[in-house]
Amino acid sequence: MLSPVTVVGGAGRTGRLVARRLLAAGAEVRVASRSATRGAKDLVADGARAFDVDVRDGSGLEAALAGARAVVYSVEPGTDNSGPNRPETTMYQGVRRVLELCPPDLGRFVLVSSIYVTHPEHQFNEWGRLLDWRLRGEDAVRASGLPYTVIRPSWLIDRHNRGIAAVRLGQGDQGDGQVSREDVAEACVQAIALPEAAGLTFEMYNKAGAAPDSWSPLFSALVKDDVLTH
Ligand SMILES: NC(=O)c1ccc[n+]([C@@H]2O[C@H](COP(=O)([O-])OP(=O)(O)OC[C@H]3O[C@@H](n4cnc5c(N)ncnc54)[C@H](OP(=O)(O)O)[C@@H]3O)[C@@H](O)[C@H]2O)c1
Repeated sequence: MLSPVTVVGGAGRTGRLVARRLLAAGAEVRVASRSATRGAKDLVADGARAFDVDVRDGSGLEAALAGARAVVYSVEPGTDNSGPNRPETTMYQGVRRVLELCPPDLGRFVLVSSIYVTHPEHQFNEWGRLLDWRLRGEDAVRASGLPYTVIRPSWLIDRHNRGIAAVRLGQGDQGDGQVSREDVAEACVQAIALPEAAGLTFEMYNKAGAAPDSWSPLFSALVKDDVLTH
């Protein structure tokens, strides 16, 4: 497992599940969010370090990212049309700030994005052009030259329903459905652990069946991104 790992948004519902799984796997975990020292005391008690950061102005990020070997970015976007809580600041500028501060030998950058980012006509885009800025943030990750994985969860629920524990990964942003935060967190951890997850963008859904024994076949069945580097 790559370590240390900085989880930006690590005090959030998905982020803290990522942090817990990484701690269980023996990684050094840094939980970073605006109020991480207050909101992630339980994770600190279990061995994580907390960093108060704000991706909107970059405060605290340098210390949180120094020497990191992997980064997970799972930040709530804000939905205002103007002012600091607009998706442009969190989903695009914030992503770029974090990318710029990543060490050059970073082993994986995992971005938690969303389904529907390629559908600007979707009603979610009426909130601060949320989908447009998410896609711009994804594009910045894909163009960064860092080894990355972009995860687009469908609608989040805390836990999958009984018997709906299997995971479907899709590409092309054509699906709809639900996925549990637990499974998204597991996907983040597996994306850090497995080399075959590098260079992938995929949507995520739960479906009927059992949880995957191994994520390697799921990642290997996907098509790598065709990233223009010139
Ligand atoms: N809800 C859905 O159905 C759905 C579907 C697809 C994708 N998603 C996306 O999946 C991701 C995870 O969702 P979630 O529900 O687990 O999120 P969440 O519980 O709202 O957690 C978001 C985290 O972002 C941090 N944060 C917010 N603004 C920040 C800033 N300016 N700088 C640094 N940290 C900041 C928050 O902590 P502080 O308050 O301490 O800063 C919190 O730790 C989000 O990007 C979400 O939009 C959601």
